[in-house]
Amino acid sequence: MTLDLSTASAPDSRADPADVLVKARGLKKHFPVRKGIFKRQVATLQAVDGVDLDIFRGETLGLVGESGCGKSTLGRTLLRILEPTEGEIEFDGIDVNRLGARGLKAQRKHMQIVFQDSVGSLDPRMKVKDLVGEGLAIHGIERKRRNHLVLETLERVGLSAESAERYPHMFSGGQRQRIGLARALVLRPKFIVADEPVSALDVSIQSQVLNLLVELKREFNLTYLFVAHDLAVVGYISDRIAVMYLGKIVELATSDDLFARPLHPYTQALLSANPEPIPGRKHQRIVLRGDVPSPIDPPSGCRFRTRCPIAQPICAEVEPLLEDHGRSHGAACHFAGTKIPETPSVLA
Ligand SMILES: Nc1ncnc2c1ncn2[C@@H]1O[C@H](COP(=O)(O)OP(=O)(O)O)[C@@H](O)[C@H]1O
Ligand code: SF4
Ligand SMILES: [Mg+2]
Repeated sequence: MTLDLSTASAPDSRADPADVLVKARGLKKHFPVRKGIFKRQVATLQAVDGVDLDIFRGETLGLVGESGCGKSTLGRTLLRILEPTEGEIEFDGIDVNRLGARGLKAQRKHMQIVFQDSVGSLDPRMKVKDLVGEGLAIHGIERKRRNHLVLETLERVGLSAESAERYPHMFSGGQRQRIGLARALVLRPKFIVADEPVSALDVSIQSQVLNLLVELKREFNLTYLFVAHDLAVVGYISDRIAVMYLGKIVELATSDDLFARPLHPYTQALLSANPEPIPGRKHQRIVLRGDVPSPIDPPSGCRFRTRCPIAQPICAEVEPLLEDHGRSHGAACHFAGTKIPETPSVLA
């Protein structure tokens, strides 16, 4: 079943490329792999491995890639929920890496995260008003003002005042995502990482939540990093899209340009897996071989080469960098723009 976006409203971007809200340079997040009773480090898992990214104030930047490509790790590292292994992060002109505990706490108000089931991971014995107001309490907002802000925010996400006195298990999946959004929004952040916010929802509910995200963005002047593995969802809501593969950004372009002119073979394969044909394009089916390789021992040169239908010897030797191919459309491939052949249906 595919997502019905016919009722969804289009994104409304007021993004200005000269106004960068979040900036990452050379960002890496590696996890140690430990073994044995002494927990000796035996290897390193390169979940995010050298990402340069600008997120413009007011835009929705989509981040797409198969499961395990490092999307969630990138989102969390940008917010310093995870400590970066290397690299720089700037948020609204502030060097996030240099912030101490107190500075980071103050900064957190401005940068929030919403997960696939944000509310499901929280204490089920807490009432919605306490779940939503928790961040305000942490920031020392007194009860009366807190209650006012909680009710106002619940209303903004489409939940009644009575919801405040209920418990999370009394709500449907879509409503729980609204509670998760209220929990983030109540702090009036500037930036929200929405990590697969609709992936666990019924298709019929997905467009309602996507619409709400678009409305809230407009109303509260938000900037989003919108993470999903489904290119149709990402393409709908995003102004620009970054495609991630094995810890690296392999393509970055406006949504329109990415769909019209996918330059990287991985993007072409993701697009071909999209059940909705793109108007004006012959619908191709490209089947990738195997799974995403382990980020513990990624392939040399181009990390995509073990699955790339057009790989050449140079791809094993030289790592392709993200280069501009016009209209700020970047792709990291030695043969960017080569149309990859459709997989014969007998193999598909
Ligand atoms: N806390 C962690 N410790 C060790 N490895 C992790 C941790 N979090 C994620 N990983 C690994 O990092 C890689 C990227 O994961 P993730 O960022 O969750 O990808 P995605 O969100 O694209 O599915 C995966 O191989 C995953 O197993
Ligand atoms: S650099 Fe080579 S292996 Fe990598 S995507 Fe391009 S053609 Fe494929
Ligand atoms: Mg994830």
